[in-house]
Amino acid sequence: MLAVTCTSQSADDPLSGLTVGERPDPEVPEGWARVHVRAASLNHHDLWSLKGVGLPADRLPMVLGCDAAGVTDDGEEVVVHAIVGDPDWTGDETLDPKRSILSERHQGALAEQVVVPRRNLLPKPEAMSFAEAACLPTAWLTAYRMLFTQSGARPGDRVLVQGAGGGVATAAIALARAAGLTVWATSRDEAKRARALELGAHEVFEPGARLPARVDAVLETVGKATWSHSMKSLRQGGTLVVSGATTGSDPSADLSRLFFLQLRVVGSTMGTRSELEALLRLCASSGVRPVVDEQLPLAEAARGFARLVEGDVVGKIVLTA
Ligand SMILES: NC(=O)c1ccc[n+]([C@@H]2O[C@H](COP(=O)([O-])OP(=O)(O)OC[C@H]3O[C@@H](n4cnc5c(N)ncnc54)[C@H](OP(=O)(O)O)[C@@H]3O)[C@@H](O)[C@H]2O)c1
Repeated sequence: MLAVTCTSQSADDPLSGLTVGERPDPEVPEGWARVHVRAASLNHHDLWSLKGVGLPADRLPMVLGCDAAGVTDDGEEVVVHAIVGDPDWTGDETLDPKRSILSERHQGALAEQVVVPRRNLLPKPEAMSFAEAACLPTAWLTAYRMLFTQSGARPGDRVLVQGAGGGVATAAIALARAAGLTVWATSRDEAKRARALELGAHEVFEPGARLPARVDAVLETVGKATWSHSMKSLRQGGTLVVSGATTGSDPSADLSRLFFLQLRVVGSTMGTRSELEALLRLCASSGVRPVVDEQLPLAEAARGFARLVEGDVVGKIVLTA
């Protein structure tokens, strides 16, 4: 099968370890299923793997990719939940200490085939294309959990989304708007700020800009570059939800502000199978759809990765098999 594989790692030149080529078809363990991938989406996670973050070198070669939608050997159209955990674990899968996501321990989804435990399969909604469905399991699910499980934001509240162009950020903007929140967003780029308005943001700002008012919650994936602004933008008792740190993870904690304003800082990672089910229902009922920046054939994966490195993407890059 054709697959996009991490064959070596380099922090300075991550694309040097990206190999697109033939790999053996995967074996299907007992209780698992084969998915013939129709669409898979890129995530910043794939770049971290190529940089040597979160993927030990002794696991290479590793097929990249967390997100897929496709068709099983039995002909079911499915979306794949990316978290593979302890089969005996019950409850919130994101809290399973033995969990990993596809492409960390198990071969990933940027391939013509991926195998996953049967319980990781969810029916793909008919109204959603394979490309749209392939955007949901990581970026969109992460945004869903940040917003609806972790932030405490309710309809009518005001949220700030940092780094508007990103996969998680575009999802957060669209979902927050659909849920009746007032949505403010920042981006470094004027064109991305304009796009964020089209996607549902009520107002957009340059990074670090003084906001017209404080917000109830901030959704943060950028990290060091925006952290201080995130802390300053919260109202007393507000919540900063963080699920990523693209620009570095050692920001000043700003402890005085944290305790004096009684802020809450909440970590968030991926989402559960039942949150993915709820996200699928929300997309179906609201008409909200993932933002696909570009679709490319699997064989042209390198071009998609180059765009991700450049940071000129709004939403998701999808590879089709
Ligand atoms: N914990 C989890 O479960 C989880 C799940 C998904 C993602 N993540 C993490 O969340 C982060 C975002 O993921 P993603 O897939 O959404 O990435 P992405 O699509 O590559 O987006 C990254 C965004 O960060 C902003 N950014 C990058 N460099 C910046 C800088 N120097 N200054 C300001 N903003 C900058 C950009 O926004 P603008 O260009 O608009 O400013 C960019 O669009 C990654 O670190 C990823 O690993 C974590």
